[in-house]
Amino acid sequence: MNIVLFGPPGAGKGTQGVRLAEQTGIVAIAMGDMLRAAVANKTPLGVQAKQYMDAGKLVPDAVVIGMIEETITAKNAAKGFLLDGFPRNVAQAEALDDMLSRHDFTLDRVVFLDASADLLVDRLSGRLMCKACGFGFHRHYSPPREAGCCDRCGGELYQRADDREDVIVQRLEVYQQQTAPMLDFYAHRPAFRRIDADAGMDEVYQRLVDAIKDKV
Ligand code: AP5
Repeated sequence: MNIVLFGPPGAGKGTQGVRLAEQTGIVAIAMGDMLRAAVANKTPLGVQAKQYMDAGKLVPDAVVIGMIEETITAKNAAKGFLLDGFPRNVAQAEALDDMLSRHDFTLDRVVFLDASADLLVDRLSGRLMCKACGFGFHRHYSPPREAGCCDRCGGELYQRADDREDVIVQRLEVYQQQTAPMLDFYAHRPAFRRIDADAGMDEVYQRLVDAIKDKV
């Protein structure tokens, strides 16, 4: 079961992807998390990626395409994977098709999480992330039990550098210009599903499960 989950920043890709992976055993591969780990470890790639991420722009295609191919062909993704944040433009979607066919993988579902612009800003500006395990919270919609402290591992919570309001605006623009055209690329395929992601987290999760249930 191989899934692409895409949608605007703040639509809930990370939140729903982690939950689905925990429930099904599919490996969730989050491009943003991989890049943030590279930045934190100050790898050459991370140093290169940081300037783009902090500015809310896309990291060059060659960098992210290489990282994804390595990950999906690794043994731990043999039971299937869910891609969150990749592809993010039509060139990456074409590269994904190419790598899937070379490695004999199918793409069983492409799920688009559709959410309203005003909700996105509210979700992103209130997001808190765990420094240690990367789990996401929200100040109002899913607050941690103890302020500043991750429920799962006790790690320290922080606000992402790109969740400042000026960078959020830039990310939403980049989404409209570069990621939204992927809708035309995928919408005609039988694997495509569109989900209304304006609802609460549990309801959106149920819609996601319904969208893939005949495949698991
Ligand atoms: P990435 O980390 O992928 O960021 P993004 O796509 O902007 O998405 P987000 O993580 O911000 O949002 P999400 O949809 O996962 O929402 P979440 O579930 O956290 O990428 C970061 C950067 O890396 C990019 O800007 C770019 O520079 C670079 N990059 C990554 N991939 C790349 C690629 N392929 N090519 C080039 N560059 C790339 O939810 C958000 C908040 O809302 C949370 O607080 C959550 O608790 C809350 N929430 C979620 N769902 C709900 C709900 N239903 N109701 C209420 N609250 C909710």
